[in-house]
Amino acid sequence: MARLRAAGCVFAEDEARILIDAADDEIGLEQLVVRRVAGEPLEYIVGGTEFGGLMIAVAPGVFVPRQRSLLLVETVIDVAGPTARILDLCCGSAALAAVVADRLPDATVAAADIDPIAVACAELNLAGRGQVYRGDLFSPLPSALRGALDVVVCNAPYVPTAAIATMPPEARDHERRATLDGGEDGLDLLRRVAVAAPHWLSRPGHLVMEIGDSQVDSATTIFSDAGFTPTIRTDRERGAIAVVGSVD
Ligand SMILES: C[S@@+](CC[C@H](N)C(=O)[O-])C[C@H]1O[C@@H](n2cnc3c(N)ncnc32)[C@H](O)[C@@H]1O
Repeated sequence: MARLRAAGCVFAEDEARILIDAADDEIGLEQLVVRRVAGEPLEYIVGGTEFGGLMIAVAPGVFVPRQRSLLLVETVIDVAGPTARILDLCCGSAALAAVVADRLPDATVAAADIDPIAVACAELNLAGRGQVYRGDLFSPLPSALRGALDVVVCNAPYVPTAAIATMPPEARDHERRATLDGGEDGLDLLRRVAVAAPHWLSRPGHLVMEIGDSQVDSATTIFSDAGFTPTIRTDRERGAIAVVGSVD
C-alpha cells in the first residue's frame, strides 16, 4: 500500500486489496505491484473492472469503461421499451451493452467497434447475449437492421486532439489513441454518427451519445441538423453529459 501511495495511487488501500486478490502468490503480487507503480492502469493488470454491477473484461489498450457512462445506460433504460432493439456503437469492451442486456433481459442487444481487441473483449462480456460486429461505425451491420433499431447508444471518442496531452497518463499513455481522439473539436465521430443513425433507427427511435460540457451547444446543433429533436441529460455527481436525439 505504501508503494502504491508513493507512486501516486489515490485509492492505494483499495488497489492493494484488488492486487492481493488477483495475485497467485507473493512473487506474482510483486510483479503486479511493479506494473502498477510503473503507471499501468489497474484494470489492465487485473484484466477487468466493475461497471454497473457487472465484472467487465478489459484487455490492454481497450478503453476502460468510466463510471460516468452509467448515465448512458440509465438514459437507454428510460427511452427503450422492454423488448427494444438496441445497438451499442463504438462499444469498446461492450460494458454499456452488457449492463443494458442485464437490466433489460427481453431486449435484443448488439454491439460494434472498429478495433479487433475491443471486439474480442465485447464478445467475452456479452457472452452470447448479443451479436458483436467489427468495422467502421454502422458499416459491418447486416442490412436487416436498417430502420430496425429502437436505440443507438454511442460513447464515441470525443476528446479534442489537443486536449489528449492534458489527460492523466493512464489514459494518455495506455488507452489507444483511437479510443480517445475525437478530432479538432472532439466531435468528428459524433457528426458521422448523427448523419448515419437516422437510416438505422426505427420510428420512433433514439440516439444517445456522451459528450463533454464544452460540446453541448455544438452537439445540439449537429443533432438538430441531422433531423433529431435533441435533449441534454446531465449527471452532476458523475460529471456526465449525454445528448439524446429522438426521431418520430
Ligand atoms: C471512448 S471509447 C468507448 C468504449 C465503450 N463504449 C465504453 O464506454 O466503455 C470509443 C470506442 O470507439 C471505437 N471507435 C473509434 N472509431 C471508431 C469507428 N470509426 N468505428 C467504430 N468504432 C470506433 C474505439 O475503438 C473505442 O473502443
